[in-house]
Amino acid sequence: MTIKLPKIIGHRGACGYAPENTLESINTAAEMGVEWVELDVKLTADNVPVIFHDDTLDRTTNGHGPMAQTLYEDLKQLEAGSWFSDGFTGIKIPTLEETIELLIELDLGLNLEIKPCPGREKETAEIALDLLSHYWDAHDRLLISSFEHVSLETALDMATDWNRGLLLPEEWPENWRDLAEYLDVTTININGNTVTREEVEQIIDLDKPVLAYTINDPQTARKLQGWGIDTMFTDVPDVLQDSLLTVH
Ligand code: G3P
Ligand code: MG
Repeated sequence: MTIKLPKIIGHRGACGYAPENTLESINTAAEMGVEWVELDVKLTADNVPVIFHDDTLDRTTNGHGPMAQTLYEDLKQLEAGSWFSDGFTGIKIPTLEETIELLIELDLGLNLEIKPCPGREKETAEIALDLLSHYWDAHDRLLISSFEHVSLETALDMATDWNRGLLLPEEWPENWRDLAEYLDVTTININGNTVTREEVEQIIDLDKPVLAYTINDPQTARKLQGWGIDTMFTDVPDVLQDSLLTVH
């Protein structure tokens, strides 16, 4: 499957300016001219796919405890904006379905990161991909990524021809090349703040695009660009847009 990657992907929307993984954050990214956003998906206790990063509700909502033990009915009562700033008080955790509808309306590309709660690696991918398959046509503007190999393996089984991205943590697993081959990934997504030039060269040798998370500092962005990284995730799209434009 071909892929049309942008230079900048809005991380969790534009989470430097609006509460992460919310419709407001996606709208903010779109207003800044971003072409793609990265969002995290996980399941409620009753298997509703929602856009959310942490395993627990505490950091970004007024709720408490594990997402995996929370019913959607209860989740939708929660408030997910005031932790960020008063101006966002009252906003909600979006479902994957309402998020996809907004992305299509805004004509944005999507990197959906499968972010399962522990033990839910397979079903999170299954349910999210099944939903996406009913809505999403622009497969050159869709990338399914995960740190979880079981989630990517599920994506490979369910939607072989969709683009997958292997997310590598700061410490790469020794068998990362075998994983990339077995999971048949299109991209390798690395921590751009800790990666070395030698590591980037190893990926470029595989002839795969390298995507770097999460780059908010123009100097790092320019350095990575010089190393051959063409796509970066950022919380602050406007800052990176300005700095990358200056490089020719
Ligand atoms: O997909 C890039 C990045 O989002 C991975 O880390 O923790 O921000 O989801 P995290
Ligand atoms: Mg993520």
